[in-house]
Amino acid sequence: MTNVLAIGHYADHDQDALRADLLARIVTTNAEIAALPETDRQQVTALAFMGHEPFGGTDMDLLPNLGLIANFGVGYDAIDVDAAGARGVKVTNTPDVLNDDVADLAVALLIAQGREMIPASNWVTSGNWGTKGNFRLARKISGGSAGIVGLGRIGRTIADRLTAFKMDIHYTSRREKETPGWTYHSNPVSLAKAVDYLIVALVGGPDTENQVSKTVLEALGPRGIVVNISRGSTVDEDALLDALENGTIAGAGLDVFQGEPQIDPRFLKLENVVLQPHQGSATVETRAAMGQLQRDNIHAFLAGRDLLTPVN
Ligand code: GLV
Repeated sequence: MTNVLAIGHYADHDQDALRADLLARIVTTNAEIAALPETDRQQVTALAFMGHEPFGGTDMDLLPNLGLIANFGVGYDAIDVDAAGARGVKVTNTPDVLNDDVADLAVALLIAQGREMIPASNWVTSGNWGTKGNFRLARKISGGSAGIVGLGRIGRTIADRLTAFKMDIHYTSRREKETPGWTYHSNPVSLAKAVDYLIVALVGGPDTENQVSKTVLEALGPRGIVVNISRGSTVDEDALLDALENGTIAGAGLDVFQGEPQIDPRFLKLENVVLQPHQGSATVETRAAMGQLQRDNIHAFLAGRDLLTPVN
C-alpha cells in the first residue's frame, strides 16, 4: 500500500497516471476503504476523490493520517469540508479548466430546448418530414433576456457567451459584482420575473438547496426555460416537474438531477425537456486537464509545496 489512495470511477488514462505517477491504489466506493486492512489505511496521506458519494468525518476517520483530499471536479459538495478542516485535512478541487465546456453545454441546452431540436430531429429521423411537411415553428433565442443564478466562474463564462447572442444579461449572486453592465438582482424571484431564460450555475450543498423554488418558477412564467448545469439539489425538482407538466414554464435543459443517475421517472414522460447525463465537463481534453490538476495538487502536497487550487 502506498500513501495515495484514489476513490472513484476514473477513465483508463487517469487510472494509468494515478498508478504510474503516484503509485496510487484505486477503489470505487467508501465501503472498500472501510474494508482495507488498518495498516494500509494508516499509510494513506492523500486521497484522490472523484464522484458524488458523500465523504464525511466518519469516512475520513478511517484514514487517520490523511492530510489531503484532492477532488476531481470543481464542485466539492460531496466532501464535508468542515469535517476535513476540523481534522487538519486540506481539500483541493479543479476549477477553471472546465469553465468553457460547462458553459458550452449550458448554451447548447438553452438553444436545443428553445429551438425544439430534439422533437425536430425526431421529425426527420422518423420519416415525417417528407409526408407531413415542415416541423412547427420554434421560438427565437438570440436577443432574449437571460438570468444567471450564481455569477461565479462558470456563470460568468456562460454570460459572456450569451452576450454574443445579443442577450440582456441579469444575474443574482451573494453580492453585486463588477460586470459589463449586467443587471443585479438580490434574489432569484426578482431575477426570474425579469427574464425568459434562467440558467443555474450555483455551487451545490446545503446553502443553495432548492434555490430555484416553486415561487421562482412561477415568477419565470410560461415562456420560461430553465437550464441547470450545476447540481440537482439547487432546484426544487418536484416543483420543476409540476411546472413542466402543467405549463407554468415552457421547458428545461438539464444536465444534473437529484439522486442521479436514478432520476425521477416523471422526467422521462416530458416532451419539453432536453436531458443530459451530467456531462458538462465530459470532453477528452477537459477531463485530461482535470485529472492533471488533481494529480498536480497531490504532488504539491507530497512535496510540501503550496497547493495549486485549495478550497480550505
Ligand atoms: C462536475 O460536476 C464538477 O463539479 O466538476
